[in-house]
Amino acid sequence: MNKYQYLASPITFRGMTVKNRVFLPPMKTNYIYENHKMSDEIIEYYGKMARGGIGLVTTEAAEVDGDHLYDSTILGIFDDSQIEGFKKLADSLHQYGTKLSVQLIQGGPFANSQINGGRMPLSSSPIAHVWNPLETPIEMTHEDIKHYINKYAAAAKRAQIAGCDAIEIHCAHGHALLGSFLSPLVNHRTDEYGGDINGRARFLIEVVETIRETVGQDFPISVRLSADEREEGGNDVYDTCYIARLLEKASVDYIHFSNGTLYDVGTLLPPTGTPKALNTIYTDIIKKAVKIPIGCVGRIKEPWVADMLIEQGRLDIAYIGRALICDPEFVKKSFENNFDDIRPCVGCLTCLATSAAGIFMHCTMNPAVANQKLADIKEAPIKKNVVVIGGGPAGIEAATTAAKRGHKVTLLEKFNILGGQFIIASYPPVKQELSLGLKYLIHELKKTDVDVRLNTEATIETIKALNPDEIILATGGQVKMPAWIAESVHPNVISAWDIFKGKKHPGLNVAIIGGGSVGCEVADFMSDHHNYRAIGGRKITIIEMQDNIDSTDYTANRDFLMTRISHKPITVVTSAKVSSITESSISYIKDANEETLNGIDTIVVAMGTDPNNALAEELEVLNIPIHIIGDAKQPRKIMTAIEEGRETAINL
Ligand SMILES: Cc1cc2nc3c(=O)[nH]c(=O)nc-3n(C[C@H](O)[C@H](O)[C@H](O)COP(=O)(O)OP(=O)(O)OC[C@H]3O[C@@H](n4cnc5c(N)ncnc54)[C@H](O)[C@@H]3O)c2cc1C
Ligand SMILES: Cc1cc2nc3c(=O)[nH]c(=O)nc-3n(C[C@H](O)[C@H](O)[C@H](O)COP(=O)(O)O)c2cc1C
Ligand code: SF4
Repeated sequence: MNKYQYLASPITFRGMTVKNRVFLPPMKTNYIYENHKMSDEIIEYYGKMARGGIGLVTTEAAEVDGDHLYDSTILGIFDDSQIEGFKKLADSLHQYGTKLSVQLIQGGPFANSQINGGRMPLSSSPIAHVWNPLETPIEMTHEDIKHYINKYAAAAKRAQIAGCDAIEIHCAHGHALLGSFLSPLVNHRTDEYGGDINGRARFLIEVVETIRETVGQDFPISVRLSADEREEGGNDVYDTCYIARLLEKASVDYIHFSNGTLYDVGTLLPPTGTPKALNTIYTDIIKKAVKIPIGCVGRIKEPWVADMLIEQGRLDIAYIGRALICDPEFVKKSFENNFDDIRPCVGCLTCLATSAAGIFMHCTMNPAVANQKLADIKEAPIKKNVVVIGGGPAGIEAATTAAKRGHKVTLLEKFNILGGQFIIASYPPVKQELSLGLKYLIHELKKTDVDVRLNTEATIETIKALNPDEIILATGGQVKMPAWIAESVHPNVISAWDIFKGKKHPGLNVAIIGGGSVGCEVADFMSDHHNYRAIGGRKITIIEMQDNIDSTDYTANRDFLMTRISHKPITVVTSAKVSSITESSISYIKDANEETLNGIDTIVVAMGTDPNNALAEELEVLNIPIHIIGDAKQPRKIMTAIEEGRETAINL
């Protein structure tokens, strides 16, 4: 029996009955091609969630204004030619009893003129957007406002004509056009559309009223709001209670809450380590202010959390975002009590980083998100004897997929446990959630009949004895350790990996060479109070050649890591190159001057990863096809390891 009866219960808005309380929030995929039309990939992407049992899908943001596109890969609902695509999507979801709501957006100050034929962005006030900082937007006139109210209404009508079931108006995060009117952080007007909260909400309310007149009484309207903007001078939760009441009066049927602003995405797009269901601290207050149903997003990842929130009357709807990207069958598996089969979201925000970069959205745990062909694990026409070398994420995924296709698979791992670097990737503070990802990969592997041989180092002899038809080399990476550092006179030169593994122990005055993600994470780890307690803590200096540390991570994970580092006894030296090492000191050149840190008892090397693939060359004499994947090919990420494992095994 389904344990989650509250989550599974239906909910009705103006005659639209949604079969359960799991709603997908809008999440931009970038699966857009010609004229911002719906693509087959989007239909298939949401279709998987419908087949997986979700109650309602909210589309990614759809642009209402073809003259000021939000960005070049935005879905469009600004032209009648786009109706057909929405109809296809609605028909496809309806087959499975899933409802469809369309999120409506106009980019406001975000809409860059370079992709809009030189037309400057629009806003409540002439204040540049943080993500479009060089363009002061045009302050809208009353005529402009009227014009855009009609654009929202026309877009809503298109959704209705297409057979969609509802719309969601984006008015959150102090962002896009309506958000820029609602938020006092951006709206500095003194006319009827600014000043007090009634003025700032006026545009939104007029949009709702005009949409209602246009779509009639039977079509549900929802609005997305930030429950609290979490910034000084922004809308707080009590402002939002008031706005929610205005919306209720204006015939809005349900409200979807997130939080924050686009100026600080830390809790708006909460990474690993942030609290579960983090918006309920606000929605608990808002729930008492309105009678219409409400829901919220924000790290609701487990069915028991969602079910409990609804049982307790704290929410009516659970918006579940990234957990559904990871596993579109989240609902079905939850309701069938197969929780261990759910591919877990590890909170890494690769989805956001790729979506924001304008490429197809990728997911670390689910390779089929960016490449739908990888969802299709078909039986192999010819069954082969496959040997996979290395039990990190690449090797595990390759072995599992190959076995699912009917191949005979042997997986060799030289250590006594599976996981490779994925194990230590979950050791730094707040990253424990990554271990869920590894646990899931192993769980899936165990369902197959792969012959897993631990404590078995692959050599040319072991491989010869197994007589494979194909070899997958997933031997991963190894610490990059320049000989002159390893062989220096300093008595305690150790790698970041060894510290995470507990193999070597740092002293009290540590220099880390390399301030990439691993260098920063090991500094965070060594100075963590769970790891070391002493007055003043452990003194750590990170020496980095580049002009910034951890500079390739654009997500909130980095923001949180940098905040922790700045609160700990960690000194960061950038644009500095290590020049020499003695028994107790390390020197570096910065700005053409040599500086020396004395009394250094430990040197930690975090200079990156080298591929570990020398075996490939040795194995060539066997004349058996070899596929090198994951970090063994080139050190990168868990995402590429899993992706290449799946893809290689699908093509065997
Ligand atoms: C501290 C740290 C933090 C990280 N954090 C993240 C993160 O947050 N996000 C992210 O995406 N990535 C992260 N990474 C990188 C990520 O873990 C790797 O990119 C990923 O694990 C590579 O997977 P792989 O399977 O290719 O190789 P590996 O994980 O290196 O696995 C290779 C396996 O092969 C085995 N092996 C090697 N030679 C042989 C042999 N001859 N015979 C048998 N077995 C052999 C090894 O023992 C190992 O188990 C992190 C890495 C580190 C070190
Ligand atoms: C890749 C990605 C794209 C997103 N695109 C949108 C969007 O188009 N419109 C929007 O209002 N929110 C967008 N969001 C925010 C999500 O709707 C949601 O608030 C966020 O993912 C937190 O919910 P979760 O913890 O359940 O994932 C996006 C989030 C992600 C990760
Ligand atoms: S990319 Fe990372 S955060 Fe995004 S859905 Fe996948 S696992 Fe979750």
